Amino acid sequence: MKKIVISTGGGDAPGLNAVIYAVVHTCYKKGWEVFGSRNGYGGFLDIDEMVRLYPRDVEGIYSAGGTILGSTNKGNPFACPVKNLAGEVQIVDVSDKIMQNFNRMGFDCHIAVGGDGSLEIAHKFAEKGMPVVGVPKTIDNDLKITDRTFGFDTAVSTATEALDKLHSTAKSHRRVMVVEVMGRESGWIALYSGISGGADVILLPEIPFDIEAVCEKIADNELRDKHYSIVVVAEGATTIDGLRFNKGKGELGRAEMILGGVGEWVASEIRKRTEKDTRALVLGHLQRGGSPTTFDRLLALRFGAAAVRLVEEKMFDHMIALVDSKMEAVPIAEAIKGRKKVDLESDKITTARGIGICLGDEVPQD
Ligand code: F6P
Repeated sequence: MKKIVISTGGGDAPGLNAVIYAVVHTCYKKGWEVFGSRNGYGGFLDIDEMVRLYPRDVEGIYSAGGTILGSTNKGNPFACPVKNLAGEVQIVDVSDKIMQNFNRMGFDCHIAVGGDGSLEIAHKFAEKGMPVVGVPKTIDNDLKITDRTFGFDTAVSTATEALDKLHSTAKSHRRVMVVEVMGRESGWIALYSGISGGADVILLPEIPFDIEAVCEKIADNELRDKHYSIVVVAEGATTIDGLRFNKGKGELGRAEMILGGVGEWVASEIRKRTEKDTRALVLGHLQRGGSPTTFDRLLALRFGAAAVRLVEEKMFDHMIALVDSKMEAVPIAEAIKGRKKVDLESDKITTARGIGICLGDEVPQD
């Protein structure tokens, strides 16, 4: 009999609950105990945040968005900001305390569900001796080695549906609609939703964009008697001059900048340069919400069940990955080495250019 603890860390993604469901049920069938740590590593620091999970606790949760355990992208246990009595912020390392509690509670393995940040932390714990198995999550789909992360398909569906709805209003008003979608380092959501949702322009972090090329495409549409345009821009897209847009530092303990603003900037430049009515909207966290699609649900359930198999095989410091439709164990260290970028030679990029979509570097010619 084994005693497993599962945690969900980083920004949430549709499918987290399906992973928890699969882990609890697969372990239960083996006669193993499962505990859930609330809010990332919360349960390792405060016993009240550690909950025993039985099948009845996870009944039907595979179809619900979010995570029943809660999640956080603040407070890396290796460099945790805490306010002292004088109100000053101090950076403390609570990883030893977490290791002690992990051992004291008698856990055999920690299943860490997260994106690059959470998996990097999980890998550090593995180096300290904690048996860890990783499960890849992020709507951005930018984790290396795994072909897909769960949450991405749901986010793309949400963005595509939004684009479908924008066509009619853009057309009625002969407007340009600029839609900012998530994607810090990689443009997967922008590319997939943009192609599927009939965008005229798609701007990705992988291709620095020239605003002149974007405006030329809009002018070209006018010449062809198409008086409205849809522009999809990933939040992490940059201009050819290296302009990157953010809203400054996040909350205490949040390592990354809060991105945002590129959509508004692109819209104002288009308005200025083409004199066309232009509006911008940010899809934001809508993309992280809602029930996971069938694809994400199935992938998350497969990941959860396969993670338990990795525990059984003692494949610690490994992450479960989808490789050529199969579940494979890969070293966590490999998965967190850089980000998975859109391959600019891929068929999706060729398709986009082929059907006349401008990717911000040039206007497709006939
Ligand atoms: O990594 C996933 C992600 O959704 C990014 O695309 C986005 O920049 C970030 O999380 C937003 O994080 P927060 O919820 O902290 O604003």
